[in-house]
Amino acid sequence: MRAKPARVAILISGTGSNMDAILRARDGINADFVGVISSKPGVEGLHKAEAHGVPTAVIDASAFAVRRDFDDAVADQLEAWGAELIVLAGFMRILGADFVRRFENRVINVHPSLLPLYRGGTAVEDALADGAKETGCTIHVVVEDVDAGPVIIQRPVPIEAGDTRDTLHRRIQAVEHELYPEAVQRICAGEIHLDSLGDDQPGVTALAGTPSG
Ligand code: GRF
Repeated sequence: MRAKPARVAILISGTGSNMDAILRARDGINADFVGVISSKPGVEGLHKAEAHGVPTAVIDASAFAVRRDFDDAVADQLEAWGAELIVLAGFMRILGADFVRRFENRVINVHPSLLPLYRGGTAVEDALADGAKETGCTIHVVVEDVDAGPVIIQRPVPIEAGDTRDTLHRRIQAVEHELYPEAVQRICAGEIHLDSLGDDQPGVTALAGTPSG
């Protein structure tokens, strides 16, 4: 167990249901949640963060003509908060190579598929269109290539007859809401080391493939 709580920031762009799930679990996580950044003003997730008493900042992506300037503004806010772990939770912007290098092995994301299957923004529809029997969700480290970083934890979700994008995404999200807090908790406890994924980490393999409800 890490003695000192990890300083954790969460980045959102919308509903913030994953952020909410993590903050609801915060009593069991050895972390200080130092702030939430939204790339969009006025989103529901900001109200949820405020209700949890976590500082918020809006860095409106649409106000930046150059992506690099947006990335720098986000990075500067994260550094001002002293963030050690950066949790992307429905953050709808792709962070550039310089940002990723600046925070190497400190940024994690949730994706609604069993990566490396169905990378990209249409993962749920792609699994359906493929006629797959199951899909799932993955917590992974963010690297320069989108949805291509090392897997931290993933869990399958069965696809049911008659599923639509919405019904399937809702079931995937219910699993995300269990998996993401668990991943953050284990990282902050020092059980999972983001810079040595791929080496033998017993906790990681034990979680992979756990059936979902
Ligand atoms: C999640 O389903 C996640 O897989 C995807 O975006 C969604 C965000 O939802 N990356 P929320 O903002 O956490 O409610």
